Amino acid sequence: MKYVDFVDSTYKPKDSDLICTFTFEPNDVTLKEAAGAIAAESSIGTWTALTTEKPYVLKLAAHVFRLEGNVAKIAYPKELFEEGNMPNILSSVAGNVFGLKALRSLRLLDIEFSGDLIKGFRGPKYGIEGIRKILKIKDRPLVGTIIKPKLGLNSEDHAKVAFDAWSGGCDIVKDDENLSSQKFNDFEDRLHETLDARDRAQSVTGEKKVYMINITAESEIMLDRADLVVDHGGEYVMVDILTCGWSALQTLRKQDYKLVIHAHRAGHAAFTKNPLHGIAMRPIVEVARAIGVDQLHVGTVVGKMSETKPEVLENIDACKTEMHGLKQVMPVASGGIHPRLVPALLETFGKDVVIQAGGGIHGHPDGTKTGALAMRHAVDAALKGISLEEYAKTHPELRGALDTWKA
Ligand code: 3PG
Ligand code: 3PG
Ligand code: MG
Repeated sequence: MKYVDFVDSTYKPKDSDLICTFTFEPNDVTLKEAAGAIAAESSIGTWTALTTEKPYVLKLAAHVFRLEGNVAKIAYPKELFEEGNMPNILSSVAGNVFGLKALRSLRLLDIEFSGDLIKGFRGPKYGIEGIRKILKIKDRPLVGTIIKPKLGLNSEDHAKVAFDAWSGGCDIVKDDENLSSQKFNDFEDRLHETLDARDRAQSVTGEKKVYMINITAESEIMLDRADLVVDHGGEYVMVDILTCGWSALQTLRKQDYKLVIHAHRAGHAAFTKNPLHGIAMRPIVEVARAIGVDQLHVGTVVGKMSETKPEVLENIDACKTEMHGLKQVMPVASGGIHPRLVPALLETFGKDVVIQAGGGIHGHPDGTKTGALAMRHAVDAALKGISLEEYAKTHPELRGALDTWKA
């Protein structure tokens, strides 16, 4: 088959097909040839016709069934893929194609898994509903913090900062994405001390508190760490899903631990930031949800990281939209958040969101505990529909935050 033979506008995708949407710019070839090249290289084809092509192989060809301007929709027969093997699927649909000379640029916008293909994956164990049950919080956003400085604190000080954040009103404390088990802060010491602090904070406040410890590491070490978390009464782990890789994430999810999986997406912008090339966040959400994360960073619109509102809304939609019965992933807004931004976050996310702030809590001039309280005040005010300025008249902690961060 030649590249153009992979374009067939009469092809009707089957329910069992996997459908990908790509946008692309051809490089010295026609749009049709370029689209065909994507379908060929990501299924059974190559740059030239072959003498080894058997009739039964042709049945596995992907088809460009729609080509509108620079957007191609491609259907892949499910038999192209090994069941339950996410790296295998992505080596096809998000593999060689990005480097083809026939394409100046290529961006994967969406992956729609068929019900047949999704069966090979576990999906979220808890999802939004399960997380709300654990935290006993029915209808408000969850408030979290990332311990800062992001690296360098010893385990004792880390646990102290965590205690202050919880006692001020955070539901969740999380490690930063690049904290693992460095010399200055050993994983096991941190786990013990911070879970102790969690227990103390729970008895002082009477509220449920959780700790998302970062287990990101080589996959066997990661599993050992997850075991330790279970043994010590933790309920959550955090994983940097892109630097660990999909295979490691599948391995972790396969253990079916009684642990909520919080997914940090450090590194995603290498794929997502160029609007013409790479992999959009939506397919990353879809893959992570299929494998089975419970919470996932999806951007903020208003924080320190660049992502537009339409993109963030699309990411949220991918977390929550019907996907062959899989549970909904809890969206996480994190990166440059402080109390003044809370009304805008609620506007974008609604109530199903983890609002996380590192600097926006530990940077409060009166310290972490006051910073956490200010964040809770901001959430309360926004939920009641009261302006932050108004609410701050009777809540000096919030006043302090608003005076510190003006925009
Ligand atoms: C995270 O890992 O989500 C962050 O480190 C956010 O930190 P910041 O609130 O200080 O930007
Ligand atoms: C951080 O680590 O500072 C951020 O939370 C990362 O940003 P993201 O949530 O947009 O990936
Ligand atoms: Mg971080």
